[in-house]
Amino acid sequence: MVMGDVLILLTLFYILSQIRSESTDDTLVLVHTIFRHGDRNPDLLNLFPKSPYYNESFYAPFGYGQLTNKGKVRAYKVGTDLRERYNGFLDETYNIDLIEPRSSDFNRTKGSLEVMLAGLFPPTPDLVWMDGFNWQPIAFNYVERKYDKELFCYGCPNWDKEINSYLTSEEGHVFTNKYQDTFKYIAKNTGEDITEILQVYYMYFGFTIQEELHLTLPDWTKEVYPEPMKTIAIEYYNLMFSTPNLMKMSGGYLLKKIFSDTRSKINGALPRRKMYIYCGHENNIASVLKILKCREDDEIPGYGAYVLLELHYINDTYGFKLFYQNYNTTEPILLRLPDCDEFCPFEKFISVAEEFIPKDESICGTGSSSSAENFASVSHFIYVLVLILNLF
Ligand SMILES: *[C@@H]1O[C@H](CO)[C@@H](O)[C@H](O)[C@H]1NC(C)=O
Ligand SMILES: *[C@@H]1O[C@H](CO)[C@@H](O)[C@H](O)[C@H]1NC(C)=O
Ligand SMILES: *[C@@H]1O[C@H](CO)[C@@H](O)[C@H](O)[C@H]1NC(C)=O
Ligand SMILES: *[C@@H]1O[C@H](CO)[C@@H](O)[C@H](O)[C@H]1NC(C)=O
Repeated sequence: MVMGDVLILLTLFYILSQIRSESTDDTLVLVHTIFRHGDRNPDLLNLFPKSPYYNESFYAPFGYGQLTNKGKVRAYKVGTDLRERYNGFLDETYNIDLIEPRSSDFNRTKGSLEVMLAGLFPPTPDLVWMDGFNWQPIAFNYVERKYDKELFCYGCPNWDKEINSYLTSEEGHVFTNKYQDTFKYIAKNTGEDITEILQVYYMYFGFTIQEELHLTLPDWTKEVYPEPMKTIAIEYYNLMFSTPNLMKMSGGYLLKKIFSDTRSKINGALPRRKMYIYCGHENNIASVLKILKCREDDEIPGYGAYVLLELHYINDTYGFKLFYQNYNTTEPILLRLPDCDEFCPFEKFISVAEEFIPKDESICGTGSSSSAENFASVSHFIYVLVLILNLF
């Protein structure tokens, strides 16, 4: 009996070790991570002067639009989760060539990226530079908003033109007109002149954030919040996927960069690079999933949600496995592109996205170039020191 148990145990260990060795570590070549910043306060855009919570003192000490402590904890956990997931692959000792982290040009994404990196790369003993201080500086880049084609489509001169030409089209009018009663009701109760679906979209996020902050919403909102405001917000959201050019601007430039970096890795130009990290907004994640035909149309990716594009080398072929973490489940979900296996060969993967990959800068419009990179400045360094001191 005892011998039998031991044998069963040994067999189990053997099977488990086989599963482990077949898992990501030995076939993984490169990872692209795109994550949404942590919890934040509402921006003025999300508020209206007659709101009982208009005053910035409700959002102290961080201020309008800023990352909150809850948001820092959430972004930090993205870092520790990825450290756990990739520990056998991603060196524990940080090196400047190992990763390329980039943020959008917002305080809340820069702060989120900094704490995420603190979770991903706590200093190994040889990198500790101050005793008892479990943090090291990690440089990241960002591109000024009006030039950031990859993470901030609203900076493209053609973005507004394209959205407005849709909204003023017949189809667009039908779209806006069906919500006129809701618009009137909101206008009456807020004192705002509500003419555009975009205003309702902003207000919807204002209300959700106030609920997260445990502020009690005024009674009149019960008529329209969450529904139909949520549906209106999601429909506005899906507007950004309503024409091929909007798709190209909202996610095409980012995927173009991801594909080009992947090619460089495959060609041997980036021997030490293991991970690209992008910290952006819910639309960055939604757009990439949409272009890859893996998006659920009624979902707005939550704080700390992330997408992983894992480049593997399996059976003499490079290909991607696409994962999405929206916290429905503990582990990220493995998604399957249409007509492709879960391990999808690189060229096939590209062909799924191809129609939405912009050929050049003209889709975005003039004024865009990616030459405006800035390195994280001393103020970010001090900012993260303050963040970390708060955390520990
Ligand atoms: C906002 O709140 C602060 C602190 O309660 C108060 O001093 C200030 O007057 C308020 N501002 C407005 C515009 O109501
Ligand atoms: C970022 O923070 C600075 C102050 O540190 C502020 O002046 C600026 O307006 C903030 N930007 C945003 C988008 O909130
Ligand atoms: C790799 O090749 C083997 C043998 O042909 C096959 O069983 C396996 O499914 C392949 N793996 C993938 C991920 O395609
Ligand atoms: C997440 O859960 C929601 C609610 O159960 C479900 O509607 C949605 O399809 C799930 N999303 C994914 C990506 O599995």
